[in-house]
Amino acid sequence: MSQATIIDGKAFAADLRATVAKQVATLQKDHGLTPGLSVILVGEDPASEVYVRNKGKATHEAGMKSEQFRLSSDATTQAVLAKVAELNADPTVHGILVQLPLPDQVDAPAVLGAIDPAKDVDGFHVINVGLLNTGQDAMVPCTPVGCLLMLKHVVGDLTGKRAIVVGRSNIVGKPMAALLLKQHCTVTLAHSRTVDLPGECRRADIVIAAVGRAEMIRGDWIKPGATVIDVGINRIERDGKRKLVGDVAFDEAAAVAGAITPVPGGVGPMTIACLLKNTVTAACRQNAIAEPA
Ligand code: GUN
Repeated sequence: MSQATIIDGKAFAADLRATVAKQVATLQKDHGLTPGLSVILVGEDPASEVYVRNKGKATHEAGMKSEQFRLSSDATTQAVLAKVAELNADPTVHGILVQLPLPDQVDAPAVLGAIDPAKDVDGFHVINVGLLNTGQDAMVPCTPVGCLLMLKHVVGDLTGKRAIVVGRSNIVGKPMAALLLKQHCTVTLAHSRTVDLPGECRRADIVIAAVGRAEMIRGDWIKPGATVIDVGINRIERDGKRKLVGDVAFDEAAAVAGAITPVPGGVGPMTIACLLKNTVTAACRQNAIAEPA
């Protein structure tokens, strides 16, 4: 039996996309500025194709300029760097996103490091990582931003809350921990080698699951009333049916938690909405314009 409030990421994302669309209209009307996002996709990974298509559609729907560049699966690092350099130099492009994963022959750190940090709407450039970790204005990775927006909506002031982030990736775990620290949480960054992970989770008022293992976090790991944000998207087969599940055993956790995000329909929709928001922020900063409300 579910007792927790189910956090509706889809509705939350729709609200955020509508706010961004309004900001875009204001920027066009008052400043003649149309924020632009360019996405580079190398190769033909089917999941990446879907992500890139969805990003393009959402960007377009928000009234922004949206471009996609496709490079073949045998593209060289040099070819990707050349495309990045071209977009860095284009003043109508405010955000650049190189879809990951890149094929093995492409030097991913070199490519991410070549993006102008001001246009780095993914927040993966080491300059942005450094700015975030020193509490300065940075471009912040979209998924953790989405998680934080939902958390603040549900919990309110996060000061003093015990938060655990399970998973230490550069895309989610580490920036999530930095954002929570900035909100004055007491943060535990846990991972596959953490001793007594269930016990660590049980102490937490906030659990962020970003470990990439289907339903690993069980209901009896959750403190009663805690807020659970599930970043995982895992495809599994159960009873002969293919299914999407998170990193949290949803039914078990929902019986204990105060609030929880579902999979699908939780964090996922927020990521693209935050990408749009980051693109508006980048466009405003590049043009020294205050971001519209
Ligand atoms: N692949 C999976 N997630 C992401 C993301 O957030 N950004 C990029 N660039 N690629 C991804």
